[in-house]
Amino acid sequence: MVCLGNICRSPLAEGILKSKVNSANVYVDSAGTGGYHIGSKPDSRSIEIAHKFGIDITNQRCRKFHISDFERFDVIYVMDDSNYENILDLANSASDEQKVKLLLDVLDYGPQEVPDPYYGGKDGFKNVYHMIDEACSKIANSLNQLN
Ligand code: 4NP
Repeated sequence: MVCLGNICRSPLAEGILKSKVNSANVYVDSAGTGGYHIGSKPDSRSIEIAHKFGIDITNQRCRKFHISDFERFDVIYVMDDSNYENILDLANSASDEQKVKLLLDVLDYGPQEVPDPYYGGKDGFKNVYHMIDEACSKIANSLNQLN
C-alpha cells in the first residue's frame, strides 16, 4: 500500500487489509513515495479513525518505498495518480509495471483516487477510511478464495 507520506492513507490501507486476511498467507506492508516522515507513527487522525473501527495501527512506522519492493511484493496498490506516476518511474521492467495498481480500481465505480486528507479535517479521514475499507474488502475476498 503506497501513498505520498506513508502517515495518513497507506497506514490505514495496511491496517485495514491486514484485518481482513490471514497473516499466515498474505503479507501486507505500506510505504510512502516521499521521505518526509521516515520513522514516524501514522498521523494521529488516521490512528483515531482506525481505532474507531477496532484497528490498531500505532505500531506502524513510516518508511519510503524502495525499488527492492518490486521484488518483495506481488501487487503494489497506490492511492492516487501522482503516487502511480512516481512508482512507475522506479519500475525496471514490464513485470514491475504490471504490479502497480490504483487501489480504487478494484471497485467498479469512481472516484478512482483516494484523496490526500493531510491538509483537511477529520471528515476527510473518515471519508478515505470508508473508501479504503470497501476496496480492501474486495481484495481480501479474492485473496481469501485463493488460500
Ligand atoms: P499521505 O498524506 O500521503 O496519505 O500519508 C500526506 C502526509 C504528509 C504529507 C503529504 C501527504 N506531507 O507533505 O508531509
